[in-house]
Amino acid sequence: MTSIKQHIFRFLYKYIGKPVFFRIDPEVTHDVVLWFGRMLGKYSLLQKCTRWCFDYRNPALSQHIAGIHFPNPVGVAAGFDKNAQLMSILPEVGFGFEEIGSVTGKPCAGNAKPRLWRLKKSQSLLVYYGLKNDGCEVVKTRVAGKSFRFPIGISIAKTNNTETVDAQKGIADYVQSYRTLATYADYIAINISCPNSFGGLAFTDAHLLDQLLAEIEKEPLKKPVFLKLSPDLQEKDIDAILVVCEKYTITGFICSNLTKVRKNEKIVDVVPSKNGGMSGKVVADLANSCIKYIYKKTQGKYIIVGCGGITTAHDAYEKIKAGASLVQLITGMIFEGPQVIGEINKGLTELLKKDGYKNISEAVGTSIK
Ligand SMILES: Cc1cc2nc3c(=O)[nH]c(=O)nc-3n(C[C@H](O)[C@H](O)[C@H](O)COP(=O)(O)O)c2cc1C
Repeated sequence: MTSIKQHIFRFLYKYIGKPVFFRIDPEVTHDVVLWFGRMLGKYSLLQKCTRWCFDYRNPALSQHIAGIHFPNPVGVAAGFDKNAQLMSILPEVGFGFEEIGSVTGKPCAGNAKPRLWRLKKSQSLLVYYGLKNDGCEVVKTRVAGKSFRFPIGISIAKTNNTETVDAQKGIADYVQSYRTLATYADYIAINISCPNSFGGLAFTDAHLLDQLLAEIEKEPLKKPVFLKLSPDLQEKDIDAILVVCEKYTITGFICSNLTKVRKNEKIVDVVPSKNGGMSGKVVADLANSCIKYIYKKTQGKYIIVGCGGITTAHDAYEKIKAGASLVQLITGMIFEGPQVIGEINKGLTELLKKDGYKNISEAVGTSIK
């Protein structure tokens, strides 16, 4: 399934890159990777070298969704490039789109360290960053007036402080980010599911979500809007959210964010902190259930972005057949290496061919009766 180049990079990452990275503190590793990515993205020769190493293209993977052209369905999820620093290099690594952020109205230092841990056996990360980011004004300077080789989503959340626990201040904070950044984004993701912020998941409450979406809808600049959901929602909570969304112009849902729930048979490590949410394999089945539920319940009305625990083409295809038009990942790349994006895209074209589909869009929702 994999090409020779992908085999070589898989081998190098498994036996050199990963053992080195996994000895270093996870947040320091994240910062080093961001620095390295920024350097690669600065010079066109290095961009071209990266493209030669990793990129995989096939027209069967491209789609037009909500007026946006996605060269392939595999995006980088919110949280990896929080401050909009990697838009020049991530398309060369093979991603079909990226979601910057989450970005908040004001700059935010995040929670006290340590706030990122590896759960190695569970192939998961425990994340307690607490929406650390430079704030919408600084992020604006990095995206304004620039064009990128792939679509850019910007994830917005409310500033993580005691002030935004007040619902009206929280709404004003979301609106400030929308107003500042929407013009530069192909789509906006409204993160109502950060497990690590003051006040909890206030905007999963239907009444508050209604108020939030009403204010966003008043903004004159219209962009496709996705809501990012928690994998820990009960079906009745999702139903209430769907009822509210009916009233507004919502393009779709991102299923899902990190899980906070510790009772999960996929957790095989000792979880080092009671704080934080988990990614990777721990969240995969929860995300898949969320995708299936929404796709079935709404009969494919919304665009679904599947996210959580994708490390192979089969994982991505499972989410696509369950109803996702696009997928996103972070943890899979950290555990498997950057060549995994090309491997997933190549694997997807082979799975499509095997099932007799000419384009990825034909596979969406096919496992849902
Ligand atoms: C280090 C890290 C930081 C994250 N930060 C955010 C964030 O700021 N906003 C957000 O919506 N999701 C955030 N997430 C959640 C991811 O976007 C994604 O939903 C989750 O990790 C599941 O995907 P994965 O298993 O492929 O990592 C973060 C995840 C990780 C691992």
